[in-house]
Amino acid sequence: MSWGLRNRLDRVLPGLPNGTGSVMFAIDHGYFMGPTTGLEDPRKTIVPLLPHADSLMLSRGILQNSIPKRTNIPIVLRVSSGNSILNDDMSNEKLCVSVEDAIRLNVSAVAFSIYIGGAYEHQTIVEFSKLVNDAHRYGIPVLAVTAVGKDMNRDLRYLSLASRIAVELGADIVKTYYCDGFNELIGACPVPVVIAGGKKVPELEALKFAHNAVSDGAAGVDMGRNIFQSDSPENMIQAVRSVVVDGADPNDAYEQYKSSL
Ligand code: 5RP
Repeated sequence: MSWGLRNRLDRVLPGLPNGTGSVMFAIDHGYFMGPTTGLEDPRKTIVPLLPHADSLMLSRGILQNSIPKRTNIPIVLRVSSGNSILNDDMSNEKLCVSVEDAIRLNVSAVAFSIYIGGAYEHQTIVEFSKLVNDAHRYGIPVLAVTAVGKDMNRDLRYLSLASRIAVELGADIVKTYYCDGFNELIGACPVPVVIAGGKKVPELEALKFAHNAVSDGAAGVDMGRNIFQSDSPENMIQAVRSVVVDGADPNDAYEQYKSSL
C-alpha cells in the first residue's frame, strides 16, 4: 500500500492504527432521495455535528454548498449515481464524478455502490473496478457500498458475498450492514469494514448494533439516518461515538443520550 493511500485511509478511519472504531457520518442520501428527512437544510443539520465525526461521506453538491471550506474533516466523496427513488430498480449507477474532480475537492477517499444481485450488477462491478484503477493511481482509497437496493435480503450469506466481491475487486473499505454471524463476514473480508445504520430505529437499538459490529471486528460505522433523524442528532452522534470509539456499553451511552436531551 502506498504512503498516500495508507495516510488517507488512516485519516478517514483514525481508529485503525490503534484498533478502535471510527465514526464516519453518512449524509449522501440526497443523491437519490432528494431532501431526506433531517437533511432538508443540510448545512444546519451537519455543521454542529462535525466536531463529533471522524469523516464525512457525502455528494459533491453538498460538499461544495453546505460544508465550510476551512474544515479539516476528511471527506469520503460519493462518486456513483444515476437513479432516484422514483424508479423501481435503483441499481443503474455509473461513475459520475471523475477522480480528478475528487482530487480538486481535496477528498480523502471515494465511495461507489456496487449492486450485487441487482439488474445492473455487471455495470456497477466494471465501473467500480475502473474506479479502483484510477483512484489508486493517485493513492486515493475506494470505499465500496454494498447491499443497497430495495429488495435485498440482508442476511449473512448475501452480505458476505457482496462484501467479499468488493474486496476481490480492490475495495479499501467495505460498507455493509450488521447481521447475525457478522464475525464470519469480518473473517472473510481482509480490509476494514464499516456498517451503515439503515432506516431509523430506536436509539438504543442503533447503539446496540453499532456496539456489536465493532465487537465483532468492524472498523466503525458509516451511519446516517440513525444520527440525523434522531430527536437529538448532536446527542446521538456523541452516544454513537462513545460506543464505537471509546467502547462504552450501549445501555450507558443511551442513558447519557437521554439525560442530555
Ligand atoms: C446510500 C448510502 C448511505 O450513505 C447509507 O445508507 C448510510 O446511511 P444510513 O446509515 O442512513 O443507512 O450509502 O446508498
